[in-house]
Amino acid sequence: MAIKKGLFKTSIGRKNLMAFTGLFTSFFLIIHLIGNLILIIPDSYFPIEFWGNVASAHDMYNAYSHFLVHFWPISLVAWVLYAALIVHVIDAILITLNNNKAKGEKYKVTDNSTSTWYSRNMGILGTIIGIFIFIHMTQFWLQYKVLENEHDLYNLVVATFKEWWVLVIYEIGIIALGFHLVHGIESAHRSLGVYPKNAMGIVKYIALCFGIIMAVLYAIIPIILYFK
Ligand code: HEM
Repeated sequence: MAIKKGLFKTSIGRKNLMAFTGLFTSFFLIIHLIGNLILIIPDSYFPIEFWGNVASAHDMYNAYSHFLVHFWPISLVAWVLYAALIVHVIDAILITLNNNKAKGEKYKVTDNSTSTWYSRNMGILGTIIGIFIFIHMTQFWLQYKVLENEHDLYNLVVATFKEWWVLVIYEIGIIALGFHLVHGIESAHRSLGVYPKNAMGIVKYIALCFGIIMAVLYAIIPIILYFK
């Protein structure tokens, strides 16, 4: 009982929960990126002789998506992901409300000189990402996985990225994601304390590289598909 209270009710417990759910979602983002990079493999690289008669990026992407949807262990992980995303958002709201309450109780002078603008605006970045994920899931997840309106996911994704406003929304969402990841990965390691002694500098560097690499690779997919 005491452990449960510590985990979910105390400030440290909430930060740890935030860190776990954030790191799990980051792991999903790596796998999701690898799968979606198939979309931009040039046709000149095919036929690649694996997965039976896979002969183009189109076939390979659809085979990959079909596997994700119909292999039950992956579906199970997907449900854990939705739960992690929801817990991450609720936890973020609770931590923000708590911080605001603490600020209201006593006058506090905040020194911003050593923090970055994105670490002070994680809530705004998170809101932009939340709106982005809502639009994104309505466009693909809802149409393909839930309503099953579209069976050729490759065609759906390629056609969606032909609209300039979709491109703009994705680039904004992905830039916000990059900054959110840089601070989030660093902060998660700080909360959990999982780094060698005096190695916070290395953790910061890894977080920076991770955020930049993820943002750049995600950002190029809609750009390439728009101009293809
Ligand atoms: C820009 C490149 C991206 C493309 C082409 C893309 C494509 C897709 C597609 C086709 C789906 C539906 C099929 C599936 O469930 O796998 C999907 C689901 C999803 N995407 Fe993306 N995505 C991109 C970026 C992102 C980003 C940046 C995020 C997070 C901020 C994200 C979060 C999600 C989530 C949470 C789901 C539902 C996952 C599931 O049900 O397994 N995606 N994406």
